[in-house]
Formats: sequence, structure tokens, C-alpha cells
Amino acid sequence: MSFGIIYYTFVLLFAGLTYASFEGRLPKIHRLQHLTVFGFSLISEWPLPVIGLKIALIIFASMLGVFKGIVPQIFYIIDLLTMIGLVVIFVDAYEARRAIEQAIQLYSGSKELPTFKSETFWQRMVNPRFIPQDVVYYSNISYATHEEANSANKVAFEQVNFMSLDVYARKQPSDVKPVLLFIHGGEWIRGDKGAPYPLIRHMAESGWVVVSTNYRLAPTSKYPNQLIDVKRALRWIKTHIAAFGGDPQFIAVAGDDAGGQIAAAMAFTQNDPKYQPNFEKTDTSVKACVLINAITDLLDENKFWDMNIGEDFCQNVAGLKVKDESFLKEHSPLHLIKKDSVPFLVFHGDRDTFVPFKASGHFVEEFKKVSKSEIQFIPIPGGHHVYHLFSSPRSHYQAIGVEEWLNHIRHDMMADNDKSAE
Ligand SMILES: *[C@@H]1O[C@H](CO)[C@@H](O)[C@H](O)[C@H]1NC(C)=O
Repeated sequence: MSFGIIYYTFVLLFAGLTYASFEGRLPKIHRLQHLTVFGFSLISEWPLPVIGLKIALIIFASMLGVFKGIVPQIFYIIDLLTMIGLVVIFVDAYEARRAIEQAIQLYSGSKELPTFKSETFWQRMVNPRFIPQDVVYYSNISYATHEEANSANKVAFEQVNFMSLDVYARKQPSDVKPVLLFIHGGEWIRGDKGAPYPLIRHMAESGWVVVSTNYRLAPTSKYPNQLIDVKRALRWIKTHIAAFGGDPQFIAVAGDDAGGQIAAAMAFTQNDPKYQPNFEKTDTSVKACVLINAITDLLDENKFWDMNIGEDFCQNVAGLKVKDESFLKEHSPLHLIKKDSVPFLVFHGDRDTFVPFKASGHFVEEFKKVSKSEIQFIPIPGGHHVYHLFSSPRSHYQAIGVEEWLNHIRHDMMADNDKSAE
């Protein structure tokens, strides 16, 4: 009997999640938001394990004789319908392959994208923290100077622990490799550099030197400390990355969610002394910027958001008493776009229920108006807010898209350099 109730609860929970994941609609309960954001992405990225779990439960339930009578049979039918929905969601994920194939055609020719034959894809699916043997991982390297560490710890004990980064590099690189600096998301208040982003692992496998960085989190540390910290991480990269086989002359930044805001702000405020206290002379320029479901508009004049993002940012991230529009404009990527910007690549899941998909489209339009630089927008069909955290078809093809685009940007830059050298 009690197992029957567990089974019914599971049936309803997953039926609801599957339907909502498909619809891309969020119940407007703010406190449940993080659960639903994660739940929707779990369903959309890992439908097969969920089906496996369901079949196991059905077998178990029928062994216990749960399915006697009309009510249990109704639940059983709901369960079967949910599984059909999950199969549709699984097939749907392959739309991402088409989206990426089409997007990279411009610079990679009509290249056929690989399937899932790669062993490492499956290894990562079983163990999201899997790192291939020829990639070495150095963790928790501090990027703060003694003075920065001391003053951070004065604000709160051991804050300096956040001022650290991880490096992923090939064991025996044959030549210097380009560098990708990845900035994790989590609304500036949570998240960690060690989260199992398939993109980080894919880029490291493809021979890039990848740096995943932490920064001090709000509300203990107030914005723009997050931006300043990541610029300190960049300072560390420029000085030390050659020792890991990385090329300090080619550093691209990437970030998701709040990390995307920081990545874009870095690209638009490079070498601005305001965000380089006591390291004003350090070159903090980067070569390209990749955004994934990023927060690019803090003012939200078009009201794309379900919540008041500006107020939330001012009060909970920057520690201001009231919403301050000029402060928001100073830190909102949409309002910082420069004519001579670095190139941008923008991804957004079209079912994102947290950061509005439309806001990314708006950012890209505005960028095209203001900047003469290259920008590419790749909507990810069926993608929810954290699809890129799961080892799945979407994140797999997206990672290939990032690699192809960055190689194209780097190739063009090297060709330009050769031309100007002649
Ligand atoms: C790095 O730091 C984190 C958190 O501070 C810790 O959990 C992890 O074990 C550390 N990694 C290594 C290899 O020491």
C-alpha cells in the first residue's frame, strides 16, 4: 500500500515535469524556481535514464500487485503516456545537431558532425566528473596577491578561498594552445568552478587550455567584486599560462547565466582601470566572448523577465538599498556594447524559464546596431536554463559549436596578423 503511494507520487511528479518541460512554462512559484529549473533540464537532457527508472518502478509495482483496480490502472496509463512524452523529448534533442550544423556552415563548410560514438561522451554520461587520461587537471590555484588575500579575509574569514581557479591542459602539448577562461553561473550568489560543465571537458579534450575560475560570491562580497576577481584571474593567466602550454596571446572568455554577465562585462570593459585596483597597468584584453543563457540586460526595459532583475541585482548582489538605474546601466552588457568589441557567440535555450530567451535575441540585435564586430546567435531548440550542465546531445553539439567558432575566430585573427606583418 505505502509503495503504491510512492509510485503514484512519482507518476504525478514526472508527468507534471515532463509536460512542463515540453511546454517550457514555469509555475509562478518563485521559491520553487531552482528546483523546477533543474528538474526541467534533467527531463530534457536525460529522458532515457528517467524512462529506465520508470520501467524499474513499474516492474516493482506490478510485482507488489499495485495495479489491481481501476485507479491504479489510470496511473499506469498516465505513466505510459509520460514515457511516450520522454521518448519525444529524446528525439527532439537531435534538433540541436541540426541547429549547430547549420550555424557552423558559414566557417566550417558542410562538415558532418560526429555522433555519439565517442567513448568519452558515454564516460561523462556515467560520471560527469570524468576527465580523459591525456588531460591533466590542476585545482585550487590562488590568483590573489598577498594584499588582495588579506583584504578579502578582513571582510569575512577565508574569503580568499574563492579567489582560485582550476586549469585543464593536455599532458604533452605539441605546440602552444589557445586558452578558454570559463566563468560559472549561479546568480552571483552560488555556483562553483568545479561544476561538471561538458563544455570545459570537451575544450580540454580538443587541446585547448581551459581555466575555470571562482570569484567571491554575493551577498558577502558585493558586485563589482565579482568582475574585479575574474580580471585578477585573467592577470594570473597572462603571467602563468605559458607554463601549462597555453598561449597568453589568445584568451577567450565564456560564461553562463551570471557568469555570462561577467564574461561580457570583461569583454566590454577591458583595460578599464576602474576594475583593476592596484593592477591598472595589466593588459586585461581578451579575444572573443561566448555566452550561454547569459544575463545580458539588467535594466529589462522590455519586461522580458518574470521577476524584477534590476531590483534583485541592486539589492541582493550589489548591496545597494534601492534600485539604481545608472549603476545597472554601468554593468548591463546590453548597455555596454562597444563599436570595436571583440566577436561574440551567443547561445540560448529557447525553453529557458529563468533567463528570458528573448533578452538574448534583443542583445544580439543591439550588438549588430552598435558594433562592427562579428556576432552569432545560436538558439538551442528545446534547451532549458541549465541544459549545458548535463552530458547530453544538446551540450555535446553545443561544445562542438563553440570549438568550431573559436577556431574560426582565431584562424581569422592569425590571417590578419600575417597580412599586417607582410
Ligand atoms: C579544491 O577546493 C575545494 C573546495 O575548497 C575542495 O572541495 C577540493 O577538494 C579541493 N581540491 C583539491 C584537489 O584539493
